[in-house]
Amino acid sequence: MIIFLRCVSCDKKFDFSKIRYRCDCGEVLEVERSDFLSLKGKISTKLFDTRWKSRQFPYQSGVWRYKEFLFPIDGKYIITRPEGNTNLYNVGKSISNKIGKFTNVDFLYLKHEGENPTGSFKDRGMTVGISYAKLLGVKAVACASTGNTSSSLASYAALAEIPCFVFLPKGRVSSSKLAQSIAYGATNIEIDGDFDEAMSIVEKICNQFHIYLLNSINPLRLEGQKTIVYELLQQLNWKIPNWVVLPGGNLGNASSLGRGLKDLKEVGIIDKFPRIAVIQAHGANPFYRSYKGDFKYRHTMNADTLASAIKIGNPVSFLRAKKAILETNGVVEEVTDQEILEAKKIIDTSGIGCEPASATCVAGIKKLVKKTIIKKSDVVVGVLTGHILKDPENILPSKEKFLRNVQGTTLPHIVSKLLA
Ligand code: F0G
Repeated sequence: MIIFLRCVSCDKKFDFSKIRYRCDCGEVLEVERSDFLSLKGKISTKLFDTRWKSRQFPYQSGVWRYKEFLFPIDGKYIITRPEGNTNLYNVGKSISNKIGKFTNVDFLYLKHEGENPTGSFKDRGMTVGISYAKLLGVKAVACASTGNTSSSLASYAALAEIPCFVFLPKGRVSSSKLAQSIAYGATNIEIDGDFDEAMSIVEKICNQFHIYLLNSINPLRLEGQKTIVYELLQQLNWKIPNWVVLPGGNLGNASSLGRGLKDLKEVGIIDKFPRIAVIQAHGANPFYRSYKGDFKYRHTMNADTLASAIKIGNPVSFLRAKKAILETNGVVEEVTDQEILEAKKIIDTSGIGCEPASATCVAGIKKLVKKTIIKKSDVVVGVLTGHILKDPENILPSKEKFLRNVQGTTLPHIVSKLLA
């Protein structure tokens, strides 16, 4: 068995070609390859740098450029928009940027995953998951979502012409995310409950009706998301930063970050790890609570935060993310909704912008610098996970910046006052 699924808890192995999301012990799975070390010497930073300049299918995608780290698949099954190739903004204090000043970090970069085709990092995992769904010839795909996974799945399923069902926690998904999955043609099913309930329902429905589940519980989604770290290191000329910081909800992204780094080290592309910092909202902080208790207990909770994308109280990828934290000498931090909004305002008014869940990462960087866990001279990369237009409900204009009901005749007076 060259490629197989392995339980993150008890190490039991399963056939890769059979659809499975959990081990018999109930834990989640990871994709493994017994021939992985044979990639050593066959792939190099030079190979990826050459492909980056190429417009050739599938290397124009910032996911499939690193296809050796994914799994073997015939190009005819690959469904790509293409995704990735997102900007890495240099916003450190050393260049006098306001985000650098806000966080007090000299060398700060923001990897804007909100610049993916559907506006969030989810597209990286989705291109891999949907391509595999195409290869399998599944009859339908589904997910539960706080809004970004559903937008992404709806788009990729439409591209692959596979029927798509999305399960959404009623009244808790932002209007623009809901609009996306409706517009792409998915069947939207509102669940009278929170994300964690929707997640548990969708897993049961998918198993009962043999619908292919494309939440991050599906290990193939995480394979695609590994490419965030490959691409950001490539943009840094393969120099390793001290820290990579990202928001944590269902913890799929933190897991794939850890896994991606491990892959790179195993094939000799990097020789050490950056430290990972996962930031949670105070009202949705089960992973933070577990970390504070040395991971002795797996906390769950009823989540409550204005950062709706990460309003999650029972993260599916808990164990995978714990591994990422332990292997990279990482940390977990929490920030309040107020701190999230302050960070968002700075990111937005710097001209870059992001959704509230993404601002959690910048708020966390600021807090970790204050605690001197991150040194102000460290090289830090923060991952902005979603686009500014993803959560319009949380964009509140100040009276000075949004003048309403202005009469034409009073305009010259108002403008001259504004310019004074
Ligand atoms: N940021 C954004 C913008 C998200 O949409 C999510 C998750 C996260 C961060 C957290 O990432 O779950 O990998 O820890 N959104 C999921 C969704 C839950 O349904 O769209 P994670």
